[in-house]
Amino acid sequence: MSRPVVSHTEGLFVQAQQVLASGVSASMRMHPYLGRPFYLSRGDGPHVYDLAGGRYLDFNLSNGAAILGHRHPAVEQAVLRGLEAGIIAAAETPFHEELAAVLCEIIPAAERVRFASVGSEVTLVAIRIARHATGRTKILKFDGHFHGLVEPFLLKREDPTAQRSGVVPSSGGVPTSLSGDVVMVPWNDAEAFERAIAGHGTGLAAVICEPIHFNAGCIPPTPGFLELLRQRTTENGVVLIFDEILSGFRTALGGVQEQTGVVPDLCTLAKALANGMPLSALVGRADLMEHLAPTGPVAHSGTYSGHLLSVLAALATVAELRKPGVYDRLNEAAAAFYQDLQAVFDRHGLPVRVQGMGARFGLHFGRRAPVRTYADALGHDHELNMRFALGCIERGVYFHAYSRQGPPGHAGFSLAHTPKDFAETLDVVDAVATDLGRGG
Ligand SMILES: Cc1ncc(COP(=O)(O)O)c(C=O)c1O
Repeated sequence: MSRPVVSHTEGLFVQAQQVLASGVSASMRMHPYLGRPFYLSRGDGPHVYDLAGGRYLDFNLSNGAAILGHRHPAVEQAVLRGLEAGIIAAAETPFHEELAAVLCEIIPAAERVRFASVGSEVTLVAIRIARHATGRTKILKFDGHFHGLVEPFLLKREDPTAQRSGVVPSSGGVPTSLSGDVVMVPWNDAEAFERAIAGHGTGLAAVICEPIHFNAGCIPPTPGFLELLRQRTTENGVVLIFDEILSGFRTALGGVQEQTGVVPDLCTLAKALANGMPLSALVGRADLMEHLAPTGPVAHSGTYSGHLLSVLAALATVAELRKPGVYDRLNEAAAAFYQDLQAVFDRHGLPVRVQGMGARFGLHFGRRAPVRTYADALGHDHELNMRFALGCIERGVYFHAYSRQGPPGHAGFSLAHTPKDFAETLDVVDAVATDLGRGG
């Protein structure tokens, strides 16, 4: 079942660089280990197909959006109904109210809903509301947590392994002058969080986190950490925001907040919400959400906000996810798959730590011990990960990589992945691990 690494796409990438900025439409579509994007022609169920028709078991799944798998019939039918309605954007329909009502039922924090288009937009609007509601400007975020591409979130600590250090831009183009508004704390470090609250508590508008840090290869909160965030934010009148864009619908229908019982004031959702169609949502406490225009003064609008095709896709997706037993099956499959994957790496003596929760996971190369902090995840061995990922692609299993530096990103499976698909993946991983053990 060996397939050539899609070499003919080198020419396409050369051409793309003449017309697409940096050759891509989104920086993270560049597969850093391949040196070009992993070009796709289509997806179906758990598979994606390259331009030559080669089939791959997909463990990226549209960066985590396709939780039901690709081309799910109910989602496809829903989108077709939207097409038949004439692609009307920029209009409210009864379907918007219907989907909002469903979210208010299943997401513990949701008393009101505002739909938008992408994740970055709703994390931005969440802090805009928090700043307006509190009259404060500072935001506390955690080292390495990803909340999209707006300025306050593109800052990082100078040295995330140090207890204290300044906040600097994580990429060019972000003015350092904005760093004064960001307080950066290591994830799962209760003492550092307490210190930050003691120093900045009543000056903070919001504390924002990925309640499971999936963007650094799945680092769960240590027991009591989310509860601490909830308690201190309440005491200090700070808005607690859970960015559940990746964790939402991943471990439980109501997200990490349902799983842990820790309910934030505001929560952002996207990705799995519409199984690959562009849709995001900000949900939360009614009194905070009513700061949004037109009732309140906080700006948010958009021609494509809550696009009808995406809203219909989301209604179909959530209806599938609500079916009895779905999350029991998903979490059972996850536990077995992660255990089996870990066993393959262990059997070959490879230093790899598999960390997963629900349908998303990280593979930490160069590490055997549990990864509990962002600093732990920074020890990731990209060289070994690269040899692994390329070996898997050659054998028909697609793992994406988001960067050649820093922590591993996130991988995941869908509800379309069958026991046979998991078994096939484990065989491939076993074969690649054999090669890696031989120094291949
Ligand atoms: C936790 C989290 N927040 C926000 C975003 C940004 O979402 P989008 O890419 O839709 O702008 C992402 C995207 O990966 C994410 O993982």
